[in-house]
Amino acid sequence: MPRGGPDASCLDRLLQTDRPEYLDRTDVDPAVKRSVVDALDWTGRVFGNHRQFGHLVLDEIADVPDPKVLELGAGHGALSAVILEGHPTAHVTVTDVEPDSVAAMAAGELGSHPRALVREMDATAVDAPDGHFALAVFALSFHHLPPATAAAVLAEGTRVADKLLIIDLPRPPAPLHVLRLATMLPLAPFIPFVHDGVISSLRSYSPSALRALAEHAGVDIELRGGLLSPQIAVAVRR
Ligand SMILES: C[S@@+](CC[C@H](N)C(=O)[O-])C[C@H]1O[C@@H](n2cnc3c(N)ncnc32)[C@H](O)[C@@H]1O
Repeated sequence: MPRGGPDASCLDRLLQTDRPEYLDRTDVDPAVKRSVVDALDWTGRVFGNHRQFGHLVLDEIADVPDPKVLELGAGHGALSAVILEGHPTAHVTVTDVEPDSVAAMAAGELGSHPRALVREMDATAVDAPDGHFALAVFALSFHHLPPATAAAVLAEGTRVADKLLIIDLPRPPAPLHVLRLATMLPLAPFIPFVHDGVISSLRSYSPSALRALAEHAGVDIELRGGLLSPQIAVAVRR
């Protein structure tokens, strides 16, 4: 299925790639990957993404007493830190598939937080019993996965949690997408964060793609945002 969904236009079908981001590769200097994660953390602080995403999570668990939250693909862990600060009784399991990121989070404040557990975990094969968490959240990460594994995350996230909150880059209509790419491309060969940003944009899923993936995974999905704001999807098991 194209990233633009089953009904994607011809132009939209051209605006995608199978090329991996630096973050997905095993053949790049770990310092390059670290620079991308650090840049994500920095931009999240400066532009308020961590706070905005934290509020989305806190809204979803507002009515759950002592909620258990699972963050998948946490990278730097800043979102989990906001959740822990904003909810006095939430327990957060902070995870990523990348061992270096997990080690860095474990060595930081999250590693010694009494309500946080830092673990290595693949979002497609979560090591937890059914319904263990009130909420699983996967922020700015879903586009990393090709359709088959993305559908596996929808199934796994809704198996271990009552709700799976996906927050990701919006996929704009194709002409706008060309403009977005044109502003980024000149810097992509020089700045790893922009390189990964271009690939992320090309791999972002449209609303119709998200609906098709949810159907394939057998879960219900509700979509919000998109276009000029992050694409938000809340998935629940049927
Ligand atoms: C662009 S970063 C997002 C980091 C952070 N969530 C944020 O919002 O800035 C994508 C993260 O997804 C992680 N990731 C990629 N594939 C994954 C998988 N199968 N399971 C768990 N994490 C994965 C990467 O290691 C990386 O840390």
